[in-house]
Amino acid sequence: MDTHLHAHHDEVIGIKADAAARTHVSVERRQAMVREAAVDPNGFWGKEANRISWMVKPSKIKNTSFHDDVQIKWFEDGILNASVSCLDRHLEEGRGDRVAILWEGDDPSMDERVTYRELYNRVCRLGSAMRRLGIGKGDVVTIYMPMIVDAAVAMLACARIGAIHSVVFGGFSPDSLASRIQDGNSVALITADEGRRGGRSVPLKANADQALLECPTVKHVIVARNTDAPVNMHPGRDHWWATLARHADPVCQPEPMNAEDPMFILYTSGSTGKPKGVLHTTGGYMVWASFTHEVVFDYRPGEIYWCTADVGWVTGHTYIVYGPLANGATTLMFEGVPSYPDNSRFWQVVDKHQVNIFYTAPTAIRALMREGEKPVKRWRRDSLRLLGSVGEPINPEAWLWYYRVVGEERCPVVDTWWQTETGGILISPLPGSVAQKPGSATLPLPGVKPALVDNDGKLLEGATEGNLVITDSWPGQMRTVFGDHERFIQTYFSTFKGMYFTGDGARRDEDGYYWITGRVDDVINVAGHRMGTAEVESALVAHPKVAEAAVVGMPHEIKGQGIYCYVTLNAGEEPSDALLAELRNWVRREIGPIATPDAIQWAPGLPKTRSGKIMRRILRKIAANELDGLGDTSTLADPAVVDDLVANRVM
Ligand code: WT7
Repeated sequence: MDTHLHAHHDEVIGIKADAAARTHVSVERRQAMVREAAVDPNGFWGKEANRISWMVKPSKIKNTSFHDDVQIKWFEDGILNASVSCLDRHLEEGRGDRVAILWEGDDPSMDERVTYRELYNRVCRLGSAMRRLGIGKGDVVTIYMPMIVDAAVAMLACARIGAIHSVVFGGFSPDSLASRIQDGNSVALITADEGRRGGRSVPLKANADQALLECPTVKHVIVARNTDAPVNMHPGRDHWWATLARHADPVCQPEPMNAEDPMFILYTSGSTGKPKGVLHTTGGYMVWASFTHEVVFDYRPGEIYWCTADVGWVTGHTYIVYGPLANGATTLMFEGVPSYPDNSRFWQVVDKHQVNIFYTAPTAIRALMREGEKPVKRWRRDSLRLLGSVGEPINPEAWLWYYRVVGEERCPVVDTWWQTETGGILISPLPGSVAQKPGSATLPLPGVKPALVDNDGKLLEGATEGNLVITDSWPGQMRTVFGDHERFIQTYFSTFKGMYFTGDGARRDEDGYYWITGRVDDVINVAGHRMGTAEVESALVAHPKVAEAAVVGMPHEIKGQGIYCYVTLNAGEEPSDALLAELRNWVRREIGPIATPDAIQWAPGLPKTRSGKIMRRILRKIAANELDGLGDTSTLADPAVVDDLVANRVM
């Protein structure tokens, strides 16, 4: 493939020669890696394992099966501690004074530089303090934190003592927090007085107090001071972080962990039921985090790297904390939002900290694109060298704007496809060795084997479209659903036997490039946040006036998808604007602001088959205003229902 195509062509944008020359992974090197990983995975990943620190190096590399019980083991006789790769070895190798975390506050006048040595000290003190409280290997610790350095310290301290962290996004409600704590049987919670975002404060400790009313397993709550807001402290249960740290042993021996010992749980939404606890283990996850962070972002020592995600999501785990820190990078951690104090905030921060690598979500790009070029051009951005995108499909218009306006056609754009379950990036261009096409995540990384299958599971060849599966394991893969291996098998390996099903659909073009088309299940992606329509439905039906609800995604210009709800009220209840507002707030309170409905339509009835199954296909079409293609409605129990829904669609 021609890698030196010129940028005036919209379909294929090659990497300019200078960028290619400077890159880590040349075209030839990439081809060699792809070949070696395919032919000899044990040799290839055995070598890549050396990028992290081991107490005992693994001799067994890959031992995985997608059949029957589904067993995934990588580096299974290796012993390590993830925090050592992120901290100790940088001190040993003379990187102690390098800035590990460059923190930029929501308030533009606040920032903080934390060196690897300081980070090490803070992690060790918290780790020692947790051990003193009796927390240790295998215990689950929930982390409900704002985007402050202490969030990363808490994660690393858990890793250090072998506790399994379960980070819950700070935007989730007390109820959502409680159900995650309960599912994980957490023994401790780490939180802060408050968070800050876009000039507003988030009452984390108060939310936690409410959640903990239903969480008897939590024996200890560690509270970081952030805004200094007054909070209630529960004697015996709640501890100020600073007080614990002051009295803690500054030495904290890293817990020896088997490569397959659990490292963290992260809850994510599926098509049905409650969010699943995605479990990642230590060795494979760390190798994948380090490998992908280096090759995809073409990371080089000394560079300033910024991923705008929140540590509450997997992107924050792998590409704010573990990947960059394992590679000794300076990782920028941003507490704020792109629109506060104004729409040039991202670019102001880029200039202020001379950011080289910038990684954000399409929803942010689209929102900024709407504000025009001016807020971008107010800043120089000449430190930028590479741009990344993650979380949802990026439309070509947004891709090109990112490439032309933000990156001034100088920076390759890596559109990275992956999931909470995959631990790290699976499909993405490697800058300098894969020609880009706006809107395509391009090609799999070395060692990743995607395929497209039809609905019967038949493998499709060549240029085609189908369900995206991965046919063999990679080190960063999730190992199980916490506490429910059967659900793991059911969710990911039963739709298409012997293959990992991603839940996404994709098209593959004549160059073998993948174009992700979005979820093919009942998961929606709202502003890069993954949500199960079933979760929103159960929040709605929990309202005393609601009889039934059906929720679907609808196209949304900025957010990618919006939340469209059809609501049937109990007999005797009347629709009103007041009730509409009440239901919106209800869902916000039940789940969190990210689940706020974009549209609520009163539905006297829902389209159901004679056996009572809701025909969601029809509801999706009505929400999308695609009224011509409603398809065959004759199998419905009451076809007239559809006419009513069409006549009364909202927005
Ligand atoms: C779902 C996973 C990836 C970490 C953050 C989200 C969608 C993610 C892309 C992309 C098209 C994408 C998929 C996937 N998605 N990245 N580059 N292009 N779609 O992780 O919350 O587990 O969501 O996000 O639909 O299945 P997640």
